[in-house]
Amino acid sequence: MTQNADRLAGEQRKTFHKRGNFAPVESEQTLDSLQVAGELPADLNGLYVRNGPNPAINPSSHWFVGDGMLHGINFNQGKVGWYRNRYVHTKMLRREGKYLSDDGSVDRTVCVANTNIVRHAGKMLALVENAFPMEVNSDLSTVGSYDFNGKLNSAMTAHPKICPTTGDMLFFGYHFAAPYLTYNRSNAAGELVFSRDIDVTGPTMIHDFAITENHVIFLDLPVVFDMALAMSGESLPYIWSDDYPARIGVLPRNDEAAPVCWFDIDPCYVFHVMNAFDDADGVVLDAARYPKVWQGDNASFTSAYLYRWEIDLIRGTIKEKLLESPAIEFPRTNEGVQGRPYRYGYAPIFDDGIESQQVGRVGKLDWQKNEWQLFDFGEDVAPGEFVFAPAANAKEEDDGYLLGFAYRSAHERSSLYVFDARFNQATPLARVDLPVRVPFGFHGNWMPN
Ligand SMILES: [Fe+2]
Repeated sequence: MTQNADRLAGEQRKTFHKRGNFAPVESEQTLDSLQVAGELPADLNGLYVRNGPNPAINPSSHWFVGDGMLHGINFNQGKVGWYRNRYVHTKMLRREGKYLSDDGSVDRTVCVANTNIVRHAGKMLALVENAFPMEVNSDLSTVGSYDFNGKLNSAMTAHPKICPTTGDMLFFGYHFAAPYLTYNRSNAAGELVFSRDIDVTGPTMIHDFAITENHVIFLDLPVVFDMALAMSGESLPYIWSDDYPARIGVLPRNDEAAPVCWFDIDPCYVFHVMNAFDDADGVVLDAARYPKVWQGDNASFTSAYLYRWEIDLIRGTIKEKLLESPAIEFPRTNEGVQGRPYRYGYAPIFDDGIESQQVGRVGKLDWQKNEWQLFDFGEDVAPGEFVFAPAANAKEEDDGYLLGFAYRSAHERSSLYVFDARFNQATPLARVDLPVRVPFGFHGNWMPN
């Protein structure tokens, strides 16, 4: 390639989030009569909502900074109710206030709330990792910024973990200035009952973490705050560092004020954890691992593969291994096995990196058989994250359904696909065909009635 063609390819790569089905949709809609192909399960009762960037008036210099838009579909006894898409009506959307002041202080009520949506203690919270949550209603209208009644003193990750035993919601917040990392726990009633700072090497970007029955696992990895990028205002101010050590930290849940035990690992980055659990001598962590990401610039992504870290807390050792898997992102499990030994994981397959989103496959991993089963949507259909919805009276871990949006490029429309999570035939049970596009986004959750 000539230098000019190289430069053009580089520019194309950096702006992938503005084209095709990454581009925003223009209006908020409520659609009541939706076409369904196939048969929806009669025990699917609830709301599926997915969040993602849909830049309205902000300049969207990076895929991660567009204004958050929620896309929801509700289900009742085998029938589909409405589809709605709604902006999270943030101060950022209204251009009110400033996240960062000239003196370096931040206003965490100013945010894009574009990354995830969770429900805990009856509250639905739209999340982005540098700010407070935004509370929303079940009709996807916005209530406003939520700081746990004034108790939250850090940002909140977009990947909190809800313990299936205690009902507690565990989460962290990271920041470009000290304290760089704060751990928080809200009890099952939604009260913030514990917060503490965690010592990390520097201003690392931490997107996800993990819990087990007895431990909290932190990722202190070499994507770090970059002042020059921040001053330029042109991009996300985080980039790969060759100098920053990569570590995994483990904190006991029964002694949350205890020191964190840190373990050095090979340099890498993890956006998303699949799951973690306790074993006899320590903890096991499974995650989608990038050998390197955002080196030189933070506009594009390479491919991530499933890794397992086995941490022996008695001997103080850590082992890591690459597992046989396709390139994955957005890994999920049945939420009922969060932090527990588990058998199944689910993930879309991104052979050419996440920005391509062209390879139309979703996979189910069976750890017991050490085998992936894949469903191929075909060339013109591009799936995103798929989430697990348990069946009524579920007995096995995979008794339930997988739900997710996929973009059908030939029609320039999106559909919500529903699979039987047992994947026996690996064909969708049903497909809700929307007369609109749902832009590629980040994360969603199933919220049963
Ligand atoms: Fe994420």
